[in-house]
Amino acid sequence: MGYSHLQTLRQLEAQGRLHLAAVADPMAEKLAYQIADLKVAGVRWYPAYESMLNNEDLDAVVIATPIFLHADMARKCLERGLYVYLEKPPVPLIQQLEELIKIDQEKRVRLVFQMINSEIILKLKQAVIEGKLGKIQEMRISACWPRRDSYYNRNKWVGKMMVGEHPVFDGPATNALAHLIHNAMFLAGDSMAGFGALEEIQAELYRVRPIESYDLICFRGRFPSGINITAALTHATEELRPFRFKIKGTKGWAEISKDGMLMESSFGTLFCEQPFETAFRRSYESFFDIMEGCPSRPLTCLKDSRGYVKATNGAMLSSGEIFTVDTAFSRIYNENSDQGYDVPGLADLIDRTYHEGLLFSECGVPWAHTTPTVAIQKLTSLDLQNLISQP
Ligand SMILES: NC(=O)c1ccc[n+]([C@@H]2O[C@H](COP(=O)([O-])OP(=O)(O)OC[C@H]3O[C@@H](n4cnc5c(N)ncnc54)[C@H](O)[C@@H]3O)[C@@H](O)[C@H]2O)c1
Repeated sequence: MGYSHLQTLRQLEAQGRLHLAAVADPMAEKLAYQIADLKVAGVRWYPAYESMLNNEDLDAVVIATPIFLHADMARKCLERGLYVYLEKPPVPLIQQLEELIKIDQEKRVRLVFQMINSEIILKLKQAVIEGKLGKIQEMRISACWPRRDSYYNRNKWVGKMMVGEHPVFDGPATNALAHLIHNAMFLAGDSMAGFGALEEIQAELYRVRPIESYDLICFRGRFPSGINITAALTHATEELRPFRFKIKGTKGWAEISKDGMLMESSFGTLFCEQPFETAFRRSYESFFDIMEGCPSRPLTCLKDSRGYVKATNGAMLSSGEIFTVDTAFSRIYNENSDQGYDVPGLADLIDRTYHEGLLFSECGVPWAHTTPTVAIQKLTSLDLQNLISQP
């Protein structure tokens, strides 16, 4: 992801929006080509980010590093009074988020939950706020994004719950598909820039691949306003089924499909060819607008992400552990010698949760476990270490 940031920063630099002073990454060998390229452009390279913070006169730092490093890095930047553009998820645990919120009195941190700045989500949020859908009753989310060895083996933190003493809590809802849950929190907010948070959640977390963390999750939750939300997300299918997001109110509905490219709704259709690129760039522009004191569009600050972090932490609390799906129910497939795990029938099961709002355990699946509903409005801490089970 660092590369996407770098490209966008260089483009914005060419337009005079910023000056890129330095980049830090310890992987000097792996990134020799990029380092040489940056040197030509006069950008300094640091293998240790602390040296960069100590030696450079910076206004802002972009943090696009492994999740378990976010908390320490963001804190050190805030202690130096810097603006921070922090990749999602901000931090794995609610207690870490609360700690950062306390330090970030001046709201200098913004999160790279760029999808809330996509044309489609902004349009939908506006329609919700204007009452075009009536009172919102239901949200549904689904995605099958297969991930194989090349994804899991690229770095030591992927598929982990902890790295040493640092929480990671990596998985579809807490990494690759985190945007979807955050979008739901955004759409549940009662103003254009507001965010909602669930009052309760019931969730099932599973591992199909033998990892410490999870690669399959379903949950159902309720917002205090009465909106129900059901989501099913996985990396453990061979088949790719792009994400879908459905929202239904008393007067209308909308469905986003094709990984965010299409929105069909009771108030019209919208197609967006490059939702990621456009939203990513817009969010950067919003970040600079905020630094310059003239905020243009909503951009998530730390406290706005409470709903997202509480939902994922609450999901883990409800599940109580990560259940292993017995190997009898899965198969290994190969794509160009890149191995993946697939549960036959899972893509259809996920479709069923999407259409019927059911959890896996309510669909009569033999490997599924029933879990309790937990109240999460007052959740201030999650003891992740105690919830770790081995594959
Ligand atoms: N916004 C999005 O759409 C989006 C998409 C993908 C990933 N992400 C997020 O980006 C972050 C990084 O994910 P990734 O998949 O690129 O991870 P990665 O492991 O592939 O890459 C992380 C990079 O951080 C570097 N790094 C490690 N330790 C460091 C340190 N101490 N100081 C500086 N650099 C260090 C690594 O060398 C590597 O280059 C995660 O939070 C992820 O959720 C966001």
